[in-house]
Amino acid sequence: TPAPPSTLFIFGGSGDLTKRLVMPALYNLARDHALDPDFRIVGIDLVEHDDANYRTYLTETVRGLVSAVGGALDEDVWDWMMQRTSYIVGNFDDASTYEKIGAAIAGADKDNVAKGAVFYLAVAPRFFGSIAEKLSAAGLMSETDGAFRRIVVEKPFGMDLPSARALNARLLAAAAEHQIFRIDHFLGKETVQNVMALRFGNGIFEPVWNRNFIDHVQITAAETVTVEKRGHFYDATGALRDMVPNHMFQLLAMIAMEPPNSFDADAIRTEKAKVIQAIRPLSRAEAAASSVRAQYVAGTIAGEPIQDYREEADVARDSTTETYVALRLQVENWRWSGVPFYIRTGKAMTVRRTEIAVQFKSAPHTLFQDTPTGKLLPNVLVIRVQPDEGISLRLAAKVPGRNVRLAEVDMDFHYADYFKTEPSTGYETLIYDCLTGDATLFQRADNIEAGWAAVEPILDLWASTPARVDYYRAGSSGPNAADDLIERDGFKWLPLDEPRPK
Ligand code: BG6
Repeated sequence: TPAPPSTLFIFGGSGDLTKRLVMPALYNLARDHALDPDFRIVGIDLVEHDDANYRTYLTETVRGLVSAVGGALDEDVWDWMMQRTSYIVGNFDDASTYEKIGAAIAGADKDNVAKGAVFYLAVAPRFFGSIAEKLSAAGLMSETDGAFRRIVVEKPFGMDLPSARALNARLLAAAAEHQIFRIDHFLGKETVQNVMALRFGNGIFEPVWNRNFIDHVQITAAETVTVEKRGHFYDATGALRDMVPNHMFQLLAMIAMEPPNSFDADAIRTEKAKVIQAIRPLSRAEAAASSVRAQYVAGTIAGEPIQDYREEADVARDSTTETYVALRLQVENWRWSGVPFYIRTGKAMTVRRTEIAVQFKSAPHTLFQDTPTGKLLPNVLVIRVQPDEGISLRLAAKVPGRNVRLAEVDMDFHYADYFKTEPSTGYETLIYDCLTGDATLFQRADNIEAGWAAVEPILDLWASTPARVDYYRAGSSGPNAADDLIERDGFKWLPLDEPRPK
């Protein structure tokens, strides 16, 4: 079913996010007939465009993106979209910009159908609060006429707990919680949503999904990309802020939350907030012992030489910003008490791989002699979020022959073997859900604040000891200190340089 008629106002309409992700996602939605004939797109930005050359600008970019992946733009679908696209030149601070928006909404209303409006803030974070306030002051957040008004807020949501709280307070003074859609694009990934299907759509996992059977959990988001052109943003942010309280904790919440009472947005978000709030607050000494930060130095990735992080454009030559982080966390509740959760994420690593590995306890009594290669490894369920989306379970099996010897084998499911999926940006679901008012895949204020609260002790510790950064070679699996972090507890990271499964 198509989303209800509405106008999508994109602040930052000429920006990178709009052309790279939002417009391609809208195009994919239009191709799937998921948008109403009365859907409208209005870009808002400072750059001078008239409607016609705004459309040309978008067309050129999106056509380039589609052909870069070997596809061809469906011209009918694209034309359909462009007929519905216009542009407002305006400063985000000027009252006149909001008057123009008001006029555009009134214009959409001329056939007496109350139409919704979504304000997508694809802008630098310093504008989030003030745009919301100006929309509200102009009366544009009011839903009293029966039409919905929603704000979509991109990442980063604050820099720490106080700033995230302050931003939530500003947004909530301008709009109601049900009108605010805070994006975490990991939630748009099919495999992330599939964690809930795996856990709650199958009867076999929940009975063993707890401290009695699970020994520890590893959550990895390894990237091969460097900071690319984002040095300015990244050097002020670092891997912890960029990835952990948001993306990594969303994965942790999916794996660790209690079964929600229903599939209702608030039922799910309540369970997620609870589990993130259950991450044990770290003392300063615990934060020091449970965290590793590191920066990449020159190396090679896929045959390409990579320079030191400190040599990258817009990065301070004496930067201590981490491009890699590994953490050991405890979720203190009945289900997880005593089960460590290890998190690692970094740039410029040997492979691109996002996955969750749930390692089960070994069989209580060893009947079999060791494997040909040494000690038998425990069962591990690996959920591959990207690439090669799928799930594998490591099992022990008898090696054929007269002697009873065991070896590890993998039961392996690849998405691509079962489902044909169209290429997507991950933003399709998120935009569609926002247009239809389904907030399940968006972060509620308490989810965001719980994430920041959990990392705050580490941020504080690091801020006071900036020189204690470790180093790792670009193209490696990360710093040795991260191995020490997990090996101290008697575990090992799943190797990054081996194919999965295995
Ligand atoms: C973004 C971070 O939120 O997520 C980036 O700012 C990171 O630094 C990206 O590269 C990872 O997302 P994905 O979808 O490529 O795994």
